[in-house]
Amino acid sequence: PPSTIPTLRLAADADGLARAAALIGAGRLVALPTETVYGLGADATDPEAVAAIYAAKGRPRFNPLIAHVATVEAALGEGTFDEAALRLAEHFWPGPLTLVVPAASTGSVCDLARAGLDSVALRVPAHATARALLERVGRPVAAPSANRSGRVSPTSADHVLTDLDGRIAAVLDGGACPVGVESSVVACLGGPPRLLRPGGVTRAAIAAVLGFAPEAGGDPGSRPVGPGLLASHYAPRAGVRLDATGLEPGEAVLLFGAFRPAGLDRAAAVETLSARGDPAEAAARLFGALRRLDASGAPTIAVVPVPEEGLGEAINDRLRRAAAPR
Ligand code: TXA
Ligand code: MG
Repeated sequence: PPSTIPTLRLAADADGLARAAALIGAGRLVALPTETVYGLGADATDPEAVAAIYAAKGRPRFNPLIAHVATVEAALGEGTFDEAALRLAEHFWPGPLTLVVPAASTGSVCDLARAGLDSVALRVPAHATARALLERVGRPVAAPSANRSGRVSPTSADHVLTDLDGRIAAVLDGGACPVGVESSVVACLGGPPRLLRPGGVTRAAIAAVLGFAPEAGGDPGSRPVGPGLLASHYAPRAGVRLDATGLEPGEAVLLFGAFRPAGLDRAAAVETLSARGDPAEAAARLFGALRRLDASGAPTIAVVPVPEEGLGEAINDRLRRAAAPR
């Protein structure tokens, strides 16, 4: 059960990594930086440790988690990779891609981390601190984003502590996450690869490596429904209004590029995702900007249109979920 013992903030040095690895090895929860967002990590082979992730997040039910490993070789031992999965793994790992593949019968990721499915979600992150930790742990680390369930994902150690201080053993502080949106999730389960969640690797980059476009993601109503498929997710406390061309009194505003909504001078708070209209810069700033606008106390965050190009697809996906009815 969540304790009230303050969470340790560990530096991303040899000592911090050793302590973080020892805590995970002992079944405790440690938040770790990746290039996408901070993950709430636990030993993926230990069902009690994995159960503690759900408790700390306040996740309402058991959704399948991503198992993070240090190397492509370790990933290949956990699942069955078809040709498409192998191509994607070779091209994008280490990196912001998660592959859902049939779980290997000899795999070590526990049933609870897979939510009882016969598939497993695997990722080899590129972040140096994440890789160093995974090497030291020597086992797959299950990690959803390190936020309270349904809240905005964390892209700094401070964000993690805002949500989870006293509920997890430690956070390994690796600074700001450079990509800033979660990994792209691609399922390779026999049929054509399906993009279940747009993320840090663009649809165009995936299509270029496959030689064809991935199919659209999970049909609503078909299993498994993960947190990324819940209507309201990534949600700040404030309401979110998309495609705003003008501001209502009291609203905070999230800007992109050169677009200026009517009434900007009376905005309660202003954040800019990327003044030069760069989707990668915007992705890296998205969750921090939403958290800061939320802290302004404005009842609503108005968001100007963000083009769907490149990482814009992942940004708009997260914004639509933040705006969905609660
Ligand atoms: O960037 C990220 O992906 C971060 C970092 C920490 O790696 N993690 C993350 O985890 O966003 P989480 O739990 O918030 O999202 C995992 C996604 C969910 O949409 C889940 O449904 C999907 O992966 N997923 C996991 N296992 C699956 C499976 N066996 N079949 C289908 N979807 C699966
Ligand atoms: Mg999440």
